Amino acid sequence: MAEMRVVRSLDTTSSAMSGTGVATGNTRTLGSRQLAGQVTAITGPHPGYRALAQGVRALLLDGRIPLHTRLPAERELATALEVSRATVTAAYDLLREGGYALSRRGAGTWTGLPEGAAPASVAGYQAPDGVIDLAMAAPSAPAELAAAFELAGPELACHATTNGYHPLGLPELRAAVAERYTRRGLPTLPEQILITTGAQSAVSLVVNLLGRPGDRAVVESPSYPNALDAVRHAGLRITPVPVTEDGWDVELLECTLRQTAPRLAYLIPDFQNPTGALMSTEQRTRLLRAARTTGTWLLIDETMAEMALEGPAPAPFVSLAHPGEAEQIVTVGSLSKTHWGGLRIGWVRAGSRLVNELAALRIHVDLAPSLVDQVLAKTLLPGMDDVLRTRLPLLRERRDALADSLSRHLPEWRWQTPVGGLSLWVDLGRPIAGALAQAALAHGVNLQPGSRFAADAGTHEHRLRLPFVHEPERTQEAVRRLAATLDAGLPAVTGGQNRPHWVA
Ligand SMILES: Cc1ncc(COP(=O)(O)O)c(C=O)c1O
Repeated sequence: MAEMRVVRSLDTTSSAMSGTGVATGNTRTLGSRQLAGQVTAITGPHPGYRALAQGVRALLLDGRIPLHTRLPAERELATALEVSRATVTAAYDLLREGGYALSRRGAGTWTGLPEGAAPASVAGYQAPDGVIDLAMAAPSAPAELAAAFELAGPELACHATTNGYHPLGLPELRAAVAERYTRRGLPTLPEQILITTGAQSAVSLVVNLLGRPGDRAVVESPSYPNALDAVRHAGLRITPVPVTEDGWDVELLECTLRQTAPRLAYLIPDFQNPTGALMSTEQRTRLLRAARTTGTWLLIDETMAEMALEGPAPAPFVSLAHPGEAEQIVTVGSLSKTHWGGLRIGWVRAGSRLVNELAALRIHVDLAPSLVDQVLAKTLLPGMDDVLRTRLPLLRERRDALADSLSRHLPEWRWQTPVGGLSLWVDLGRPIAGALAQAALAHGVNLQPGSRFAADAGTHEHRLRLPFVHEPERTQEAVRRLAATLDAGLPAVTGGQNRPHWVA
């Protein structure tokens, strides 16, 4: 870092790389048209320097533009935004003063974060005191967890005499997860299961093992943002296919697979996060055929699969596959929704050879999952149906309470009642989600704007994902606060005429 210093005036490297994000050496550069499109979605056209700086900062904190990425040259961005170069110079100055950009003379300007600032993807997990969290679709732990602690104690004492590392997962837990698949209609052997630190690390391991930088990956848009980030981080080029609460346009999906022959497709067929859509059997079958033809790996995320609020949970995706198709499917699952995210227990289900390769990869990531968590999980798994018998009706009640409350206080908002999952995918009718999320925090509600779930930048600004994991009274209070936020008026940043609202 010795040669890196903050300079006030920039001598930008001119590049012929405007238009799209491109990589130069190890540094990614944001394309000027790409950044201009993302910023003006927030600020409106021709932003002033303060609005421009605020827009870049908001994109950075939201994770929509990555850290340590070179910003476009001033002149190019000015052209793309149709503003003066002085506007961009002043905006970059402001970003540097705030610690959101670093420059090295002659080499350009990079995105960064000031000390103490965390991106929304990190900070959003812990809402400040007094703030109701409607950002995370994560239920609290079931009562059974306390009993599992009691039961797990003596067993842990036995493990304490061993080294405690199980890179493939605790054998008894692998067997218990395999047994659950078998009971759900998909015969599974313990060797086909790798225990991971939640489904997130499962997704990350799989995309890193199967994908190479530059490979194409088909993903849904909107989709689970942390998984999208994992795909992006592995260097894969994303091709989004749309999904709505009505489901998938499977013809388009087939066509996209045929045209792009992607290395992998990451999909959430069961109570898709955030739309709640459930893929039909016919669509699953067509997807399987298409993926087989193009030799695409299907990475199927079943984290939500057992959160069926009306009727039985869908059968595991792989159970529909013919032998030749099953080998190209990797499934991930988790106890985070059925039980508790704090457990950090997830898994991969795949062929045993792939499971061993994933275990080799995970060694240099986290060595092995926590043995304490695994013993707890192993204790909880046999009683899963009892946990769900209590949990699912409760969630149904909470879903209906959220819907009632929205109808009463925000009647212009629209949604479809999902048959599973943990959230409503609400249509606000206008692209205000980002501004609403910012303003709602001051009114005591933490939100994730729809754009956070977008695989293609600048979309879903008219959507909010609203989880129904809280008690009805808390949800009702949150909705009242949202209505009050809108009544108070949202800050308008359009055109950069208004001073942006910089928060620490
Ligand atoms: C679709 C999906 N995949 C993965 C995850 C991450 O789950 P875990 O807590 O098991 O890492 C989530 C959590 O919300 C999710 O909704």
